[in-house]
Amino acid sequence: MKRKMLWGSATASYQCEGAWDLDEKVESMWDRYLHENGLENGDVASDHYHHYEEDIRMMAEGGQNAYRFSLSWPRIIRDLEGNVNEKGLAFYDTLIDTCHRYHIEPFVTIYHWDLPQYLEDIGGWQNIETAYHFEKYCETVFRHFNGKVRFWSTFNEPKWFIFSGYMSGNYPPCHRNIPEVIRGSYNVMFASALGVRKFREMKTEGEIGLVASYQTIYGLDESTETLNAMRHADNYCNNWQVDTACLGEFPSDMVDKLKEQGYDLSFAKEEELQIIRENTVDFIGINYYSPMYVKPYTEGETLVKTNNQGKNYKGDLRSVVKGWFEVANDDMKDIVPHNPWGMFVYPQGLYDALTRVSSYVKQPIYVTENGYGAYEEISEDIDDQYRIDYIREHIRYMLKAKEDGVDVNGYFVWSPFDLYSWKNGCEKRYGLVAVDFDNDCRRIPKHSYYWNKSNIENDFIDLRKEEKQMRNIVLVCNGGMSTSILANRIKELGGDGVEVNAYGEQEYSQHLKDADVVLIGPQIRYLIDDIRKRVGENVPVASIEPRVYGAMNAQKVLEMVDELLKDSK
Ligand code: BG6
Repeated sequence: MKRKMLWGSATASYQCEGAWDLDEKVESMWDRYLHENGLENGDVASDHYHHYEEDIRMMAEGGQNAYRFSLSWPRIIRDLEGNVNEKGLAFYDTLIDTCHRYHIEPFVTIYHWDLPQYLEDIGGWQNIETAYHFEKYCETVFRHFNGKVRFWSTFNEPKWFIFSGYMSGNYPPCHRNIPEVIRGSYNVMFASALGVRKFREMKTEGEIGLVASYQTIYGLDESTETLNAMRHADNYCNNWQVDTACLGEFPSDMVDKLKEQGYDLSFAKEEELQIIRENTVDFIGINYYSPMYVKPYTEGETLVKTNNQGKNYKGDLRSVVKGWFEVANDDMKDIVPHNPWGMFVYPQGLYDALTRVSSYVKQPIYVTENGYGAYEEISEDIDDQYRIDYIREHIRYMLKAKEDGVDVNGYFVWSPFDLYSWKNGCEKRYGLVAVDFDNDCRRIPKHSYYWNKSNIENDFIDLRKEEKQMRNIVLVCNGGMSTSILANRIKELGGDGVEVNAYGEQEYSQHLKDADVVLIGPQIRYLIDDIRKRVGENVPVASIEPRVYGAMNAQKVLEMVDELLKDSK
């Protein structure tokens, strides 16, 4: 089926609506936790509850044709008996009608982390009953909004709210307990399958998916130990969401690993696993912001830290998953650019994520979140060039993946306007439009808003053209870390005009097809004839001089590339 490309932006109920106790909304676990602990909260947030009309109009005027937002469960279902708050449904009716009026496709997330407190009181995601409550909540919203919404997602990022709630302990209920991480993850994936089953039983119009948080995994070298660590990290970060939703199975090597480590998985009943198997999703949403670098596990108990105070980033976020892998982000922080919260900016990670997922998953893909968080002063003229750069490069890689055959059908910027960024508070701003939180939440479009508008209207033609002119340099070397350092240096110097990919001796052959030029590390120059044969006579191949390679002299390499390309014309 040919799908219309969706160009939109995304929010979540708790992060933007405000109106935390208006119109009979009940308390969520986030309301309780932030109020009790005296932390910055989303009581008002961006006051989208009262500004939705202006926000949706600005999306439409900004060229967007889709809006991804979530329904607030505690606004809709009052209690454990499942009594419905008609005022809550009415708010979303108006929101959805407004989307339609502005020709904006509503892309609805059913759960984006704001669990009703009455469910947290019975054990929240540790209690399988919460999954059945979710199913009933789904039934209510499918019945009520059927025909008005074509795209539904059961959950936003199971990994992030479960791991933050039960492993890092920085989100409510703030536990640090591995068996709870496992149980919660299972219960959420089961709840998602129940939601999908209900959707189909009720013959709801449209499609239903799940939105996964995705961190593309890279290793520091190519040793077997690192490759094993990468596989564990991929299971940990990505596969248990994507595989389970799309293929109906938890990754079997992950399950084996957990058993081998002595975790009790006997809670998983065959009839539940059958429901997971039979109710896979129609599409998968990928939220990509940053990659993760990993190295083999050495020692220590599981400890996962999150940086919620960007200003204090000192690179001391050593995280370990016992027996699985260690996070190596600190090793890369001087090499790969990152924002003040230590989130790496690595646009090619989106290409790698999309091609990887589509290599084994048949469902269409949507990029459901991608964006750049920054501290920003509010004024009438907010020049957020860094956000433009970030979005442009990620879209470039998404379009490249599409051209290379990935079935990707939409891109949603996080976020259309500034909102409450969970434990980072409101000062971590992601919006295309600024919200002046101190002045009645006044909206002020940033430069990125206008950039995004003109590019959507242009169908990103300029970007597609630039893509064609980009030089694709393939480095084949036997070193791991040093090669990636050189690759990054070349990229930094070459700016937008070069793409550099580094491959080891074992894996280079399949990556040569799009190369404009191939450079070989001095240690393995004996591969030159083989590579020449594979790429054909139009692609120059040369080996980097040991002096240049050893000194990581990116400038010299770029000059060499220019020479080679000039000669080959
Ligand atoms: C995603 C979530 O993980 O990333 C959003 O779906 C979140 O809810 C976004 O806000 C950015 O993360 P953060 O922590 O910087 O707000």
